[in-house]
Amino acid sequence: MSKKSSSLEFKVTSTTPSSSDTEIVVVFQDEGKKVSPPKGRYKELVERLRKSSSFKGATGSVEFLRFNGVGVENVMFVGAGKLEDAKPETFRRAGAAAWAMIRDGRAGEATLISESILSAKGGGFGWLRAFLEGMALAAYRFDRHQTQVEADSNSPVVVHVRAPESGKKSKVSEAADYASAVGESVALTRDWSNEPSNIGTPEFYGAEAKKLAKKYGWKCKVLGLSELKKEKMGLYLCVAAGSLRDPRMVVVEYSPKGKTPKKTIALVGKGVTFDSGGISIKPSSKMEDMKHDMTGAATVMGALLLASKLKVPHRVIGIMGFTENMPSGVATQPGNIITARSGKTVEIVNTDAEGRLVLADLLDYASDLKPDAVVDIATLTGAATVALGKYCAAVMGSNSSLVEELKAAGEESGERLWELPLYDDYLADMKSTVADFRNSCNNAGAGTIRGGIFLKQFVGKNINWAHLDIAATAYDVTHLPYCPKIGSSGLHVRTLARFLENS
Ligand code: BES
Ligand code: MN
Ligand code: ZN
Repeated sequence: MSKKSSSLEFKVTSTTPSSSDTEIVVVFQDEGKKVSPPKGRYKELVERLRKSSSFKGATGSVEFLRFNGVGVENVMFVGAGKLEDAKPETFRRAGAAAWAMIRDGRAGEATLISESILSAKGGGFGWLRAFLEGMALAAYRFDRHQTQVEADSNSPVVVHVRAPESGKKSKVSEAADYASAVGESVALTRDWSNEPSNIGTPEFYGAEAKKLAKKYGWKCKVLGLSELKKEKMGLYLCVAAGSLRDPRMVVVEYSPKGKTPKKTIALVGKGVTFDSGGISIKPSSKMEDMKHDMTGAATVMGALLLASKLKVPHRVIGIMGFTENMPSGVATQPGNIITARSGKTVEIVNTDAEGRLVLADLLDYASDLKPDAVVDIATLTGAATVALGKYCAAVMGSNSSLVEELKAAGEESGERLWELPLYDDYLADMKSTVADFRNSCNNAGAGTIRGGIFLKQFVGKNINWAHLDIAATAYDVTHLPYCPKIGSSGLHVRTLARFLENS
């Protein structure tokens, strides 16, 4: 991976550097639909703005003004909506809007006047951090396979962050470092998810994980075909059976340095590098999107990277199951009966319900490690889009406080999770007449829950477990200004990391 997927760098300063041509000022929208004036030197600018412009300060709106004679060439006013409605997500979106102006060449070297955020009532470094996060997330691009992109697009763009006073510089730096860590970790997830399946093979991700583990000092184990056979991962292997490219199971482990970990938390991710459906082959329309079917695994890797950068006090074990799902002469066929790692048997009635097969064996493996919690994440069912659309992802689980903790972390991250029920009744239809379970059912209803209830059968007794179905939110998210409109969204990396931070 040679080309960089983001080139934004934050530099904390106490004055606007002379090389900077634009100051970024965040403004709020008053009740009376006026722009609330920032204090000090911008008063005059805001007065002029009020007279001459229709800018009201709505969240994400931007007014770019060229001035002379007030000590700064250009000012970019970025709206953050009504102050009483402000929350971190407001600033993430505002930061993304500011970045869009910089990307479009409206501003050269910009300086964010952090005081315009920090001095707002109810605000603080969390809001500043969110603004910088929004910028960092929006600065992502996936152009490494395009030979015609401009030569300079690889050189870093610096955004200065001006601290309100020199005493606050270290807190501002902390916020900038956090945002950079978020940007880098989410970029990793997006890079992995966006890579096409001829490059992003199971072998490739195994090798990339090893490189990362070496760089950051994590433990890392990559299991190939023979090791997976030794583990008796029949369900996982039956998905890989039709593919010429061998599967790789990746286990990475972060532990806090020099400390006994508070908890052990396992993150489990679906890593289907291409889901053709197998013998139950998918229609050709949009099949190319199935290169993203390893986004669960990519999200686990990004979250582990972020957790490591943030030095969370827990042992975090990332377990990723990479494989293709392909038809061939030796592919698993509908009607086949397969024995899981746990010993339970499954009748494969639809080879396109493959994610749950991979995850079932991974969850059984994770349960053996006796973690305090297991959270799996997967692009599991198209039905998740039917149920919830792209405005939230589905969460299910065996432990209500774990589900609540994940929902709370999602809310803080602006990545909402909505809980679906896992009543045992949903399992009735998934019992097989010839095996213990079938991997899909006749009843077409509640597809996302069926996936969840199937997984539950492979989680160890007394293990706190939750399942996130991110099929809808993994890619092509157009309503969030800090996500690329096309391709991997990178959503839920921040939620998982925040969950780990809060645990
Ligand atoms: N990877 C798909 C789910 C998916 C669909 C993700 C669309 C993103 C966008 C999954 O493996 C799948 O094919 N699920 C089936 C399950 C069915 C056969 C029970 C589905 O959703 O149709
Ligand atoms: Mn499938
Ligand atoms: Zn799939």
